[in-house]
Amino acid sequence: MKIHAYEKLWLVAALLLIVGFIATITYGSVGLGIAMLDDSEETIEPKELNDDERFGEPRVEQVGENEYEAYVVAQTFIFQPDPIEVPANSEVTFYVTSRDVIHGFAVPGTNINAMVIPGEVSKMTVEFDEPDEYGIVCNEYCGDFHHTMEGQLNVVPEDEFDMTELEAEADDEVELGNETTITATVENGALDDLETTATFEIGNQTVEEDITVSGQDSEEVTFTVDSTELGEGDHDWTVTVDDYEESGTLTVVEDLEEENGGNNDE
Ligand code: CUA
Repeated sequence: MKIHAYEKLWLVAALLLIVGFIATITYGSVGLGIAMLDDSEETIEPKELNDDERFGEPRVEQVGENEYEAYVVAQTFIFQPDPIEVPANSEVTFYVTSRDVIHGFAVPGTNINAMVIPGEVSKMTVEFDEPDEYGIVCNEYCGDFHHTMEGQLNVVPEDEFDMTELEAEADDEVELGNETTITATVENGALDDLETTATFEIGNQTVEEDITVSGQDSEEVTFTVDSTELGEGDHDWTVTVDDYEESGTLTVVEDLEEENGGNNDE
């Protein structure tokens, strides 16, 4: 039997297509490392999320040298935390749950695409090699503002990533002649110790204090202010730790009114 040359060509082309399809599907299901979400995670009570060890404070936590875990809460119509920030060259495991109704957690450009079901925790692990910025979208209809529900995932360069947090507490007013304190709390979410300097400025005074904050711990620094040196009036202050700054204003008054609590009296 003689097969026409064109017919042979089409036969071969058709066979190649079939092999190609199979290869594509195989690659898509195995080669990309996409794993199906499973139900191996324990269930969780949506009403008790605030008291939950992982989801009470949605955050990114370091668990190994280049390994991080992100605890994400979806609710109408936001994701927390937002933005989610992780370093490049890292492996991040996302744990996502919902506070109310079914949401989606999809990050176009990555393998992340999960349904977020109240009462359950969706878990997925992704590697981020390069710095990038991704949008997070909810792809399950969840209510009137479903279309506005979005978040941000930032993969920042390794040397720009840190897990430091700074908070400062101070009184607003102090009576002339008294001392008051300003307390800065430096939180170090990383595994390694943080060695840094806390700088406090008020008026023309600058106080620096070197601090070491152990991994996943926090440290308090207290600065004492002598109101006599400042004199009456408003005085702006700042506390700076690395790239973080907290500021406020301290008012030195001649007489603190008794009725507003007089909490500066010592
Ligand atoms: Cu949340 Cu749609």
